[in-house]
Amino acid sequence: MVDEIGWYRNRSGGGSGHKGPSTLVAGPVRRLAADMTDASNPPESLFDQIGGQDAIDEMVDQFYERVLADPELSPFFASADRTRLIRMQQEFFGAALGGPTGYSGTSLRDAHAGRGIGAADLARFTGHLLDTLQQRGFSGDAADQVVSRIAMAGDDIVGGGGEDG
Ligand code: HEM
Repeated sequence: MVDEIGWYRNRSGGGSGHKGPSTLVAGPVRRLAADMTDASNPPESLFDQIGGQDAIDEMVDQFYERVLADPELSPFFASADRTRLIRMQQEFFGAALGGPTGYSGTSLRDAHAGRGIGAADLARFTGHLLDTLQQRGFSGDAADQVVSRIAMAGDDIVGGGGEDG
């Protein structure tokens, strides 16, 4: 949380050379900082903090650029329909972070069953998510909360029904 406030102060103070958030996320970060200093203002959902569905769609695109470029993870996706995968993941993220739209894809347990995805694969995957959030200017509690929320699905991903579980 302190990080977000720091960014905002640095930006508004006109500091140069600071690696702050892109203009796309500056608004949400500013609102997040305002929420934390105004007790009468109820906390925003993670969905709103991240910037709504358009920002989530863009974030998921960036996230899969990292996942698919990772030689440890890309083989899992060799025969995946990537367009559908990213669209479904955009829906899933939106719903999981508290947005208004539902998830219309396959159950996560069925989608991942038999793929032999292990805990280390899941950790790499969520590591790329954290990197993506940081790339977009989120760190500290906001980023941790997003990763935790998505990682809650982990039990449905790892070891599901595969012989090599
Ligand atoms: C908490 C973490 C994860 C979430 C929330 C998640 C979510 C999803 C979603 C929503 C889909 C689309 C399902 C559909 O098409 O209806 C999907 C597909 C897929 N996921 Fe994951 N996933 C996670 C972790 C992983 C990991 C760690 C791997 C592999 C290392 C993986 C591999 C795949 C593959 C290969 C597909 C594509 C299936 C296909 O279209 O052929 N996922 N995932």
